[in-house]
Amino acid sequence: MLQGKTVVLGVSGGIAVYKAVELLRLLVKAQAEVHVVMTRNACEFVTPLTFQTLSHNPVHTEMFNLYQEQEIGHISLAERADLFLVAPTTANLIGKLANGLADDLLSTSLMATRAPVLLCPAMNTNMYESPGCLRNQRRLIEDGYHLLDPVSGDLACGWQGKGKLPDPQQIFEAACSLLVTEDLRGVRLLVTAGPTREEIDPVRYLSNHSSGKMGYAIARVAAARGAEVTLISGPVALCEPAGVETLQIVTAVQMQQALDSRFETSDVVFKAAAVADYRPVQKATQKIKKMTESLSLQLEKNPDLLAELGRRKKRQILVGFAAETENLLANAQTKLEQKNLDLIVANDVTAEGAGFGSETNLVRLLFADGRQEELPLLAKDEVASRLLDRVAELLKKRANQA
Ligand code: PMT
Repeated sequence: MLQGKTVVLGVSGGIAVYKAVELLRLLVKAQAEVHVVMTRNACEFVTPLTFQTLSHNPVHTEMFNLYQEQEIGHISLAERADLFLVAPTTANLIGKLANGLADDLLSTSLMATRAPVLLCPAMNTNMYESPGCLRNQRRLIEDGYHLLDPVSGDLACGWQGKGKLPDPQQIFEAACSLLVTEDLRGVRLLVTAGPTREEIDPVRYLSNHSSGKMGYAIARVAAARGAEVTLISGPVALCEPAGVETLQIVTAVQMQQALDSRFETSDVVFKAAAVADYRPVQKATQKIKKMTESLSLQLEKNPDLLAELGRRKKRQILVGFAAETENLLANAQTKLEQKNLDLIVANDVTAEGAGFGSETNLVRLLFADGRQEELPLLAKDEVASRLLDRVAELLKKRANQA
């Protein structure tokens, strides 16, 4: 998603420096080129070696080190950045920036850059809410800096209150929204993700291995590209993406109801969820006791939600997924035609690095017009980017035909 983008990650000294390590990992995973600049104090919390290992680039800490390079270090960093991201940002650095002071590499580079700057303040609540710090933050916003508010919670100093650095995923999404071109602005996108659960009794249910990662990646990337996203999610262990309306469901029938409430007003629908094809005919009101050696369950079919949408489709772009273990292309092609899809994403869920639960996926795209496109093994965010590129092309083609 961030391929070709250069992020300069500034790290100033606070206990939240450890979170910057995870943030760096997310940026590198999204294929951004990341250069880390640390203040002297930051190095007291986490060594530059950690950041160097993850970024695959030398970490910059001292101004004079950089004069050994051909360029004057702080200027080359400032010029390279597509985004200058500072997490955590201390009260001291906020004060220096707000008052035009620059006495170390990080503050000097920040003053020299013309790239968008996203600051993530993190400190003790009283410091954060002090008149001076609030004044400096207001001035920075007036000067065009972007500030991501800290969250409330348990602080390292034992306090409870506002001042905690947001989760790395939240900072990553805020950074993406400043880096990714909003080519999907105005597009209303509906995506389903995760499994459904069909209860057997109050304790047991039928489900599958879907983690929701594929669908959540589509929702996240689409939102970063400006789309108005509604995510219909089965039970998963993922944080709801920022800037996305998330509707939580459990059963296939509940997913059907959620789809019905949004389908007519959607421009694009991605059906990445793994919907149970069957459900128990009867749901026991009490926990079934272990009496007999074997237990038979009578199942009945759930509605085929995607096929229903294919029948109702008017101007929507409808994208299905095919989770197969054999005859991948033939099975996917059949679903593409039978469910009246514009595109189906075929994945062999037994292939290494593909399908359920993995960070990556290996997919082949089959289009209604007969085109096929095989993607290499990619991170699910990158798969999402490619899928959205193709859908953007279909939307453009449809707009030109209108
Ligand atoms: O969630 P992850 O862990 O990241 O894993 C991703 C994934 C493997 C779940 C995803 O890539 C994927 O393949 N999703 C579709 C899973 C699935 O149900 O495939 P299927 O071939 O059984 O169904 C075909 C299509 O019909 C799917 O778009 C599905 O959403 C839809 N369907 C299926 C059954 C049903 N009753 N209603 C439906 O709408």
